Amino acid sequence: MSRLSPDQFRSRFPIFRRRIYVNSCSQGALSTDVEAAIHEYVESWHDGGSPWELWVQKVEELRTAFAASVGAHRDEIAVMPSASGGINAVASALDFSGARSGVAMGEFEFPTMAQVWLAQQRRGAVVRWARAEGDRLDVDAYAAVVDERTLVVPATHVCFRNGHKTDIAALTKLCHACGAYVFLDDYQRTGSGPIDVHALGVDFMVTGCLKYLLAEAGVAFLYVRRDLIERLEPTITGWFGRINPFAFRIDELDWSSSASRFESGTPPVPNAYAALGGLSLLERIGYDVVGQHVERLVERYRSAAEASGFVVRTPAETARRGPLVVVQSVDAPAMVSRLAARGIIASCRGNGLRVSFHAYNNESDVDTVVSALVAESALLERASVTRS
Ligand SMILES: Cc1ncc(COP(=O)(O)O)c(C=O)c1O
Repeated sequence: MSRLSPDQFRSRFPIFRRRIYVNSCSQGALSTDVEAAIHEYVESWHDGGSPWELWVQKVEELRTAFAASVGAHRDEIAVMPSASGGINAVASALDFSGARSGVAMGEFEFPTMAQVWLAQQRRGAVVRWARAEGDRLDVDAYAAVVDERTLVVPATHVCFRNGHKTDIAALTKLCHACGAYVFLDDYQRTGSGPIDVHALGVDFMVTGCLKYLLAEAGVAFLYVRRDLIERLEPTITGWFGRINPFAFRIDELDWSSSASRFESGTPPVPNAYAALGGLSLLERIGYDVVGQHVERLVERYRSAAEASGFVVRTPAETARRGPLVVVQSVDAPAMVSRLAARGIIASCRGNGLRVSFHAYNNESDVDTVVSALVAESALLERASVTRS
């Protein structure tokens, strides 16, 4: 199948006929491909009534397709209903009763990542924080809190609040030197460029489909490094964590030898159809092309916002940023509404205005958003004000 160009890719997202969509950090836009995949699920239900064999097969296809997209083996992937489900399953399998009971995490985590580990304090976990300096969180900050007592280091790749990207390869080196696991949260990055989990060396990773993987809520993934799988037995479990769920045993708790042991209940079938639609579309453009395209747009937007005198919270270095750029507003919810009135869909967290790019965006989107910021600049913080 021939590769799609970014223009061909964009033409599959009808929303661009109506609006400028720069909110993939919240929800990916709907393509005609994913729409068709959702209809395929509905039709399979109309047609087969209860085609569970087919539906379970679709979930397995999704496992294979996702694994290939991140450089993992399919046995290392659990298909989950949410990232939280994946984090909880791993946390429940860890033992915090010994000398190695530490959880070291940075201040840029998404709430669910922090909350699951905070909840482990009742099971003996000792939480330590790697402190950020403003919108920077360097690996040095982790070095101050990771030691031989640390069991796991949860780490977001790209921060949902300010777009800061952590150097995960360096963090992994630091953690492994102390014998600690790294648990990557790649949700704000997966789908916006290539990733190879084996090359990165992390021990666990969660991500989900509703942002840059261009599908819908209800399906997420947990990656567990091959040699760790059989050492861990989650207590948050269920029949889909068994070797053969369809053996229907109530007198025995066996463990699948693959990462499916971290799954629990009936898989998210409709979402699996949508997720496969999103992954197939991304494969047709290619993650390398997506990554280069997104980086060009991020650079264009970031530097134009800075040149206009606005406070850009996302770092300038290419290696320290992902697909999301955050500009400081004095009233970000009002700014989001003003942009919406101009046909631009963005979002905010606190007073940070979030604009994020995918392969479906183009230079003209960037320029339109920048012009809108200039027109509404009374709602943005000025760099000179911050410096004074
Ligand atoms: C970095 C990050 N992690 C996790 C999540 C969501 O996790 P869950 O699938 O548990 O809702 C989000 C969603 O916004 C996110 O941005």
